[in-house]
Amino acid sequence: MARIPDAFIDDLLARTDIVEVVGSRVPLKRQGKEFSARCPFHDERSPSFTVSPVKQFYHCFGCGAHGTAISFVMQYDRLEFLDAVDELAKRVGMDVPKDTQQRVADPQLLDLYAMLETATQFFSQQLASHAKAREYFDRRGVSDAIRTQFALGYAPDGFEALKNALGSDANRLGLLERAGLLSKNDSGRVYDKFRDRVMFPIHDRRGRPIAFGGRVIDKDDGPKYLNSPETRLFHKGRELYGLWQVRQANAKIERLVVVEGYMDVVALFQHGVTQAVATLGTATTSDHAELLFRNAPDVFFCFDGDRAGRGAAWKAVESVLPRMKDGRQAFFLFLPEGEDPDSIVRGEGREGFEARLHDATPLSQFLFDTLADGVNLSTLEGKGRLAERAKPLLAQIPDGAFADLMRQRLTELTGVGARNAPAETHVPAQRARAPGRNAPPPKRSLVRSAILSLLHKPSLALDIPTEPGFAALNQPGIPLLVELVELIHARPDIGAAALVDHFEGREEHEPLQKLAVQSLPGIDENWRAELLDNVRQLDRAALEQRRDELKAKLTELGYGGMTDAEKDELKALLQRAS
Ligand code: UTP
Ligand code: MN
Repeated sequence: MARIPDAFIDDLLARTDIVEVVGSRVPLKRQGKEFSARCPFHDERSPSFTVSPVKQFYHCFGCGAHGTAISFVMQYDRLEFLDAVDELAKRVGMDVPKDTQQRVADPQLLDLYAMLETATQFFSQQLASHAKAREYFDRRGVSDAIRTQFALGYAPDGFEALKNALGSDANRLGLLERAGLLSKNDSGRVYDKFRDRVMFPIHDRRGRPIAFGGRVIDKDDGPKYLNSPETRLFHKGRELYGLWQVRQANAKIERLVVVEGYMDVVALFQHGVTQAVATLGTATTSDHAELLFRNAPDVFFCFDGDRAGRGAAWKAVESVLPRMKDGRQAFFLFLPEGEDPDSIVRGEGREGFEARLHDATPLSQFLFDTLADGVNLSTLEGKGRLAERAKPLLAQIPDGAFADLMRQRLTELTGVGARNAPAETHVPAQRARAPGRNAPPPKRSLVRSAILSLLHKPSLALDIPTEPGFAALNQPGIPLLVELVELIHARPDIGAAALVDHFEGREEHEPLQKLAVQSLPGIDENWRAELLDNVRQLDRAALEQRRDELKAKLTELGYGGMTDAEKDELKALLQRAS
């Protein structure tokens, strides 16, 4: 991927004023240190969208939209990343580096994409030359056109077909390995991961193959589907199988149909339903939900009608609720026992499947039906229980008409309004906005407080060594703190928002976002002193941890069981403490 150097992005963001960028598109009102507006990304009556000139990011307390000037332009002007960067660079008169040498941060990455492409071609050639594999797709009614559209293939039997064909030197072998196409046994022998399987390449949003699913042809041969491991390019919780093909087949995507299997997607396409995507053997993640709604306003989830299917559907509910901005709709389609979208569309044709979609259960109904399951709504107790169950869920829906209607529905069912439901995610936000705080802020842990300071003023990390003493400390948050320190040392001009963005797609992203919008009382100089004090305390805790480890070892093994270096280290640590 053509990449712009991080340093350029940092520099660009440093020269861009997000208030101007947002302000030229959305009317902003000054409010104390920040600016506010009605959120351009969801419908709302009262402004919950804020822009911080100090932190140089925007944040919506209603829908969670959050980011830098770059992400704002991407979202508001609907631009791709590179175009948004171009747009902002033009404003401040900077030239985006055109030199590919400079644009490619990891040159191996291009080789990796190329290798995956070559492997895809290899598998499709093998399909052409293996009757057995061709017949498999014949039996399943997959036409040549669909085989081409999905770049389907075949990984031959034997242990070294791919390896021998593409791994002609150490470098290429290394690439095959990084691409997740090889396995290694206990004695270190390296061999093809996919053997005697029909192959389904998984394409990224630009149509590049980044991983594979492989299905056995003969039933008895290991797991039915084998998927590529997570690699540098492939994170299964973030990809949707078939999305590339959907985008190619539809000028405008009105809806997406989410199914479970590769073959479901392929069969639906074969029968003219060209908006199907599959999660890759995982529950619907919030990344999936975001990706789905970024591509289409209506999303239909198909599940088995059994218990497991309902459980999976509930997971999907939980991941879509926070994304249910106005204008978006989610539906649930439960299939009869033993059927899947592939068998339905083959049996009932496109019309049959469409008719089922037409009758799918709306999110609202599925949510209330599920919550009310086993609850007697004719009693006060039952109503109370339903209300208790529903409130935290409804609180996750972004402000808007849909949220209002859901609350109204809860009131109809129970007589209890959910208006003042405590929204977990809103608590820190509201605390941060509360004017004139008198009470002292709640005592934060040292780590948390250190992270908080770095989010507000990344350059403070330059006063902390890159391999800090506290790195060894076994405490939640320490690895993150160490990573932040290293990151800031590597990119000294990085701003708060880019720092948060760096964690996009990782589980730390959301907590970091929440910390970043909290206000930090006091003044810069105090932050620095407090941070350094925290670091000193953490360093000390790490030494104590080490001392206790060595003491425990001494108790367990006696002096004879310790190396000289350990004995010296313990002595020094004990002296230090006294
Ligand atoms: P299913 O077992 O429902 O298979 O798995 P399917 O899609 O109907 O496959 P066919 O029709 O028999 O070919 C659904 C999905 O779960 C994942 C795959 O993504 C599969 O498409 N899966 C299933 C695995 O990852 N590994 C397995 O062993 C089985
Ligand atoms: Mn199937």
